[in-house]
Amino acid sequence: MEKNWAFWLVYPLFLTILWPFSVIFVSFFTGQFAFFKGYLTRVGSRLLGSGSAGDSVAGNYAAPSTLSAAPIHIAIFASGAGSNARKIIEYFENKGLHIKVSLIVCNVPGAGVLEIAEEKGIPSLMINKSDFAANGYVESLKNAGIDFIVLAGFLWKVPEVLVRAYPKAIINIHPALLPKYGGKGMYGARVHEAVIAAGEKESGITIHWVNEHYDEGAIIFQAKCSIDATDTPTSLANKIHALEHAHFAPTIEKLLS
Ligand code: GAR
Repeated sequence: MEKNWAFWLVYPLFLTILWPFSVIFVSFFTGQFAFFKGYLTRVGSRLLGSGSAGDSVAGNYAAPSTLSAAPIHIAIFASGAGSNARKIIEYFENKGLHIKVSLIVCNVPGAGVLEIAEEKGIPSLMINKSDFAANGYVESLKNAGIDFIVLAGFLWKVPEVLVRAYPKAIINIHPALLPKYGGKGMYGARVHEAVIAAGEKESGITIHWVNEHYDEGAIIFQAKCSIDATDTPTSLANKIHALEHAHFAPTIEKLLS
């Protein structure tokens, strides 16, 4: 039977609408459901103009190849105890996603995060200040196949060379509600001391993109906690850690999926 113009108009339209459902259906049986669901959600949100990965996560990681099912390799940079690093490692260990913490980068010999790396069998890279400022260890990171960088209690400024090598692929967590209480020298207990000294009634956490300036990249996510009259920098630090542990890994997942 000869097909008229209406057929050639409707048939491609029908196929275009049908393919996402076919992909979802097949992915159930091939174990790729989570991956394709995320992909289709992104396509949908772009078509509808929202462009956001989730309710409270602003902006998206520009994956090297959206359709590739290859794992996304994360490097965590940390200088201290590494409780956030542990949470992130364990979150992705147990999720069965294509996201993997593949390297721990540390600038403090003997830091707790190095023990965590050893316990988890994750390679670590010890860095020094002059090389970091000069070349950002870009070559080592690229050689290790790192796609995405997470600063979790990392206290050095990220050099421009590294920011340029990983555009839209470096995030940091800060233990206060930026833009207040950020910048050079504002880390850990110093931040909580300043917040309490200023008489703030609330504090919180900020997850943000990293640029060449301390704590100035675009904000991705914030969560708040209240400050009581009895709070000390230590008790506030505990509240902040609880928020970080609850939100950091899920925010990374939203950005990467
Ligand atoms: C975290 O509270 C993090 O927000 C803060 O260091 C702590 C590291 O804890 N980062 C900064 O202050 C950066 N300006 P952890 O080693 O237990 O993850």
